[in-house]
Amino acid sequence: MDLTITPGSPVTGRSEVPGDKSIAHRWLMFAATAEGTSHLANLPLSLDIRSTARVMASLAPMARPVLEVWSSNDPATIEGGGSTWNGWDREAADSTIEVEGEGRAGLRPPGSPLPCGNSGTTMRLLAGLVAPAPFESVLVGDASLSSRPMERVAVPLRSMGARVSTASGHAPLTVAGGPLRGIEHATAPPSAQVKSAVLIAGLAAQGPTTVTESAPTRDHTERLLAALGAPLRREEGLVTVEAFQHGPIRGRVPGDPSSAAFIVGAAAVTGAGVTVGRVGLNPTRLGYLEVMRRMGVDVTAEVLGEEMGEPYGEIVVTEGTELRGTTIEPTELPLVIDEVPVLAALATHARGETSFAEAAELRTKESDRLTGMAEGLRGLGGHAADDGDDLVIGGGGLAGGRAAARGDHRLAMALIVAALAADAPSRLDGADAAAVSFPAFVPTLVDLGAGIEAV
Ligand code: S3P
Repeated sequence: MDLTITPGSPVTGRSEVPGDKSIAHRWLMFAATAEGTSHLANLPLSLDIRSTARVMASLAPMARPVLEVWSSNDPATIEGGGSTWNGWDREAADSTIEVEGEGRAGLRPPGSPLPCGNSGTTMRLLAGLVAPAPFESVLVGDASLSSRPMERVAVPLRSMGARVSTASGHAPLTVAGGPLRGIEHATAPPSAQVKSAVLIAGLAAQGPTTVTESAPTRDHTERLLAALGAPLRREEGLVTVEAFQHGPIRGRVPGDPSSAAFIVGAAAVTGAGVTVGRVGLNPTRLGYLEVMRRMGVDVTAEVLGEEMGEPYGEIVVTEGTELRGTTIEPTELPLVIDEVPVLAALATHARGETSFAEAAELRTKESDRLTGMAEGLRGLGGHAADDGDDLVIGGGGLAGGRAAARGDHRLAMALIVAALAADAPSRLDGADAAAVSFPAFVPTLVDLGAGIEAV
């Protein structure tokens, strides 16, 4: 779907966002391998989470009926702006599903390759989950996922005793599981996906498994394990787990703070105030609020409750933002890894330059996000360059123009946000990519006042 974005309207009001993608992947995998029945509410019906539900349905016979029905739920089509949007079925998203598990021992050979779609988290965490299973699994992905690095997860799983092969470092990933031994592994580069795959495998290994990281990354796996009562030890830069079979999960997935970042960003570039409710406030996901504050956004986060060890609450932006440039240091990058596109969108409207230093990891995401954002912002009439491993955004605003989402959900949403404050209308090609994490992004923005129409 291609869109016309007409600037000039403030994006303001109150909104919610779909359930957190990172948390939902983990809860689904753990629910299907729990001993007992889990109750999961507010699972996001985004394409990535459907991929995890589908692969778990293939592996876990007891969970299969519920996961098959849930993952094939076709979201209602919402009419809007004279055209149809790929909608987000709020009611289905808020309903609770009951997932029955028989423990890890209940996993069965899948019979056919496990389709992970566009989702790196599905593929990498799943590799750790099937590593101790006494059968062979083949993990496949779409063209984007098949070009992303997989040796970073294969290497530690091999040293734990699994036989893992990649196609020259990429998917398909073949995992011949079996008895595992605990290891000590240092992730390089820091990666929550690799850390989680190793910890999940460690739950079925003999002896302790320790992961160290040179910079902190999101800690959803650790919080879930602690909430489930696993033998877990956490120190700065280090986490150790021992063999453990978990029981069921009961909780409501908080809203996705990474999706909220686009709503927050849309309010900030249009100088408006906005509130995002029932959103996850795990500190390892809120690095972007700190960067936005440095850039001049008056934004607060208030914790109102907790679900399975995950804090949630409200993010409030006060109107009247005047943006200024900043530098994002390499150690800060893992905590804003998914928000670089939206921060770059803000940066293009700032006074002064913004740079993301040593950000090569962004080239290994759903697309090469350094080139994608630089080209996208130039297409919209701005100044941006990917210079070696750095992304440098010249501030001063956008003239308006045309850009492409390159099949990447976060590029699609970030370029829409950037265009909301351009001097003239812009066009974005391939906006439907947003469905990977936030299917109703465009109607949500339109509800908040944005001028966006399908062409
Ligand atoms: C994720 C970890 C991050 C992030 C991805 C989700 C997770 O990837 O970019 O969107 O849920 O663990 P890396 O761990 O590869 O940095």
